Amino acid sequence: MMLLNPGPVNVSERVRQALLRQDICHREAEFAELLHGIQGKLLKAFVPGGESDYAAVLITGSGTAAVESAVMSSLPHGKRMLILNNGVYGERLSQMVGIHRLGVSELKSEWTVKPDPERLRLALRQHPEVHGVAMVHHETTTGLLNPVKDIAEVVDSQNRVFILDAVSALAGETIDIAGAHIYMVAGTAGKCIQGFPGVSFVLVRKGFLERMRAYPKRSWYLHLTHYVDDHGEGTVPFTPAVQVYYAFDEALNELLEEGVVKRIQRYKKMATLIRERMAKLGVKPLLTPDRQSNTITAYYLPEGLSYQALHDRLKGQGYVIYAGQGNLENKIFRVANMGALTEAQFTAFLDAVEQVVTAA
Ligand SMILES: Cc1ncc(COP(=O)(O)O)c(C=O)c1O
Repeated sequence: MMLLNPGPVNVSERVRQALLRQDICHREAEFAELLHGIQGKLLKAFVPGGESDYAAVLITGSGTAAVESAVMSSLPHGKRMLILNNGVYGERLSQMVGIHRLGVSELKSEWTVKPDPERLRLALRQHPEVHGVAMVHHETTTGLLNPVKDIAEVVDSQNRVFILDAVSALAGETIDIAGAHIYMVAGTAGKCIQGFPGVSFVLVRKGFLERMRAYPKRSWYLHLTHYVDDHGEGTVPFTPAVQVYYAFDEALNELLEEGVVKRIQRYKKMATLIRERMAKLGVKPLLTPDRQSNTITAYYLPEGLSYQALHDRLKGQGYVIYAGQGNLENKIFRVANMGALTEAQFTAFLDAVEQVVTAA
């Protein structure tokens, strides 16, 4: 089955085979070696040149575990979080802080509109109680790419902490984490890194990690500093999904061999292939090109074709597309181009789309 949903993704045979390595105990040296290897590779891939300023903290759990851990562990007593919300995942950030009553009124934008840095600057001046700002890098809801650099500059100039949900962006979009002074970036194995779901991570600026130790514990499992291995012994507090870590390690080997820049270029090329062919078919995108990411395109459903019919006809040929969410549910469909997939596979998928759309 070719997965055109934004994770889980198709993985290579090499990554799949890594699941079958030996059974090990997570309190033994073999696990420490695996963990340190993954941490080093994550820093090499995503904070090149700034490896010594950041720590990679791994959590067994899906992307939400990393995001929630970053958000809930980064607020001192009496301080608040401001959320930039322009999609389902921004909404989820709001809900996370909302449960604990730690948010200030979020800055909401339409789902097809990027957050405005100047509006944020004003809000931060008006709310001295705001300690951190959280935003989604790539809003998977629509495929919209948020302006990380501009927002990071405002957050930094106002001496606040920036927390970024880059779950669907890392290895798919360019980002300068250290240069933009981003304190916390949440990611996952199971999207553009091309591993399996089940392990996620937070890249944290080391100086901030020290400050976080004094912050209140709002969750047992997700309290981030719990996971920090002070003595470098390669231990984790809870039983890790060892086999998924093996595959993650192999996926990171593949990523570093391909090169992060080349991975991003490959995704961009596949997105362009999809977009050009869809344009020829008259299938209209939700977003203009200047707002689109490298890895997801949202399309209005063609006239006379329901999502279910389109989905089922494509699935019958081995292709899984993705529905719209929220108020876009019956209006759009999404095509993701993450994963270990070839140009020939995308071309075959687009042939199938053409067949279904022209027959409708
Ligand atoms: C931007 C973003 N954040 C968070 C998540 C949540 O990740 P998970 O479903 O792995 O918990 C997703 C999932 O698609 C996402 O796209």
